Amino acid sequence: MANLLVLGTQWGDEGKGKIVDLLTPAFDVVARYQGGHNAGHTVYVAGRKIVLHLIPSGILRPATFCVIGNGVVIAPSAFFQEIGDLEARDIRVDPTRLAVSRGAHLIMPWHPLVERISEERRGEKRIGTTCRGIGPAYEDKAARLGVRAGDLADLRVLREKIVETVAAKGSVLGAAGLAALDAEAIYREYAGWAERLGPYLRDVSDLLHERMKAGQNVLFEGAQGALLDLDHGTYPFVTSSSSTAGGAATGLGVGPRTIHGVLGITKAYTTRVGSGPFPTELFDDTGKAIASRGDEFGASTGRPRRCGWFDAVAVRYACRVNGIDRIALTKPDVLAGLGGISVCTGYRHKGELLKTFPPEAWMLEGVIPEFRTLPGWPEFARGAAGLEDLPPAFVDYVRVLEDLIETRVAIVSTGVAREQTLFVESEIRDFVDLGRVRAGGAV
Ligand code: GDP
Ligand code: IMO
Ligand code: MG
Repeated sequence: MANLLVLGTQWGDEGKGKIVDLLTPAFDVVARYQGGHNAGHTVYVAGRKIVLHLIPSGILRPATFCVIGNGVVIAPSAFFQEIGDLEARDIRVDPTRLAVSRGAHLIMPWHPLVERISEERRGEKRIGTTCRGIGPAYEDKAARLGVRAGDLADLRVLREKIVETVAAKGSVLGAAGLAALDAEAIYREYAGWAERLGPYLRDVSDLLHERMKAGQNVLFEGAQGALLDLDHGTYPFVTSSSSTAGGAATGLGVGPRTIHGVLGITKAYTTRVGSGPFPTELFDDTGKAIASRGDEFGASTGRPRRCGWFDAVAVRYACRVNGIDRIALTKPDVLAGLGGISVCTGYRHKGELLKTFPPEAWMLEGVIPEFRTLPGWPEFARGAAGLEDLPPAFVDYVRVLEDLIETRVAIVSTGVAREQTLFVESEIRDFVDLGRVRAGGAV
């Protein structure tokens, strides 16, 4: 197996950062294909917590080259802030190991402003976005008003675009009582970024093509999760990018057949940040216990995450729309000692059992989940090497999930650290070179 795509199968925060970091030694390149600094990917290295937002999680392994694709939206200030934070922790980030696509769109100062206005206007129906300007940046991209990273190479083009767009946004900001933007000041700021970002800018499609031709392999890193995808998620309570597997091809300029396997990251329960339907949400003490034991607070915004039982209808859907080959199951340790563990096996809508997941938010809001309750399991022993070392009730849980989602589990994560992970060797070996992962240390 050469190239692997890793993505979330729920509403984000499944533990993608941990798994990408863990698998990185088996790959030469790690490439992000969508989203922006709305993401928060947590990795623990030697007990140190590191949260990545815009920069691929592969950056923590010194031998890895990282790529940010055209499908990503970039706020230059957030980009350099993150590089500064990493360098303060002795992680070197420079153009010799990180490339940014010239086609990536830039988040401009008006984007977070427009987003706040739009969220306020929605009132009760607000999406609960991260307010980082992500949605409006993608809106401008679709409206063909966007400023691309490559535009920084020609300051005349940059100034022209900024002047035009500031004029176009004036009425929106004015109607909300905000002061007019100063196009010249914005131009000066971005001309400054041009100098710093310039050395990172590359034709990423060509770069990946050449590296793959030379025999290097690529880990495609998804942000957010399948249920937040603009097309396949619970619209309109979604993000504005293509977080499903198809997004990797358009978001990096690679052909779909360069993706040889798809690994879905799945939490052993469900969480969601922001608004939107969540059929298995728990409002009781069990929900609170999961939130507190799982430390379920947003890695980007710090907002509390809503918690609920595992939703097999939703994850089976995610497996279908992404063509997922195998699952990495994370955070089952959080459920240990809870007593009975429930799993949603089906939805009823107006009395009828639905065959498939309805991604329309209005329909999902009206479904009644059906649950099956399984026996709980005690705390996991440290240092389990294989599934057989884990409590039998948990192994039964895994088997039930596999049957319901029609996909096999290849990795089980039992804690935040790299070494708290076990591989089901027979399931993973066709997709990842475990020898290289192990040589990378910690497992
Ligand atoms: P991401 O956005 O998918 O990368 O996930 P986040 O980093 O936002 O959230 C996942 C959280 O769960 C992080 O704090 C991780 O350190 C933590 N985590 C990952 N895997 C495990 C696990 O197996 N057990 C526990 N208890 N925590 C985990
Ligand atoms: P990672 O990569 C969880 C959610 C927001 C909001 C919706 C739209 O860490 O899994 P946006 O700012 O993207 O327009 O917000 O999407 N959201 C996430 N939820 N994890 C994320 O990223 C998310 N990125 C966006 O909370 O509901
Ligand atoms: Mg996250």
